[in-house]
Amino acid sequence: MAPAKPRVLISAEQIRARIEELAAQIDRDYDGRAPVQMVAILKGAFVFLSDLARAMKTPARIDFMGISSYGRGKTSSGEVKVTKDLDTSIEGLDVLIVEDIVDSGVTLTYLIHVLEQRKPRSIRIAALLDKPERRLRPVCVDYVGFTIPDEFVVGYGLDYAEDYRNLPDICVLEA
Ligand code: IMP
Ligand code: MG
Repeated sequence: MAPAKPRVLISAEQIRARIEELAAQIDRDYDGRAPVQMVAILKGAFVFLSDLARAMKTPARIDFMGISSYGRGKTSSGEVKVTKDLDTSIEGLDVLIVEDIVDSGVTLTYLIHVLEQRKPRSIRIAALLDKPERRLRPVCVDYVGFTIPDEFVVGYGLDYAEDYRNLPDICVLEA
């Protein structure tokens, strides 16, 4: 299969600048409430997490959760399951979920439900990308990097069938 050609939608430089702004906002909001327990959703959020965590001045703890809802295609299977759980307790902590993209909202709705049962002090969400046109479940995203149209994007952690995650820019796959 010939790989589709990626077209840059958001450049690495635009992402870097936006993450500086998000980090400053997070630092203001969590002032005096350190450490923040960052919970990054594997695998797509790994690049965003590493840049966001280093741009923040607020001390943070890092943990990961694996959630699968997509299989290998471009649309959600609708079925969500935890494939890797947290290593640490979040009880009493200020949790910041770090997600690559909010699409239908199904994944985050499920995740918030799971994490709330563990009695964190608070839960907020940082998502690099938001595709509001595709929303099936309402989700309140506290920190959004970029709102994008309904196009399938790859790069900067995001994949199509596990490819393209290490592209530095966020790209649209041309058919
Ligand atoms: P949701 O449950 O539909 O909100 O899906 C969220 C997950 O689907 C994200 O964490 C991504 O892993 C994946 N996803 C949604 N849209 C895209 C896209 O345009 N490119 C790559 N992955 C996507
Ligand atoms: Mg994801």
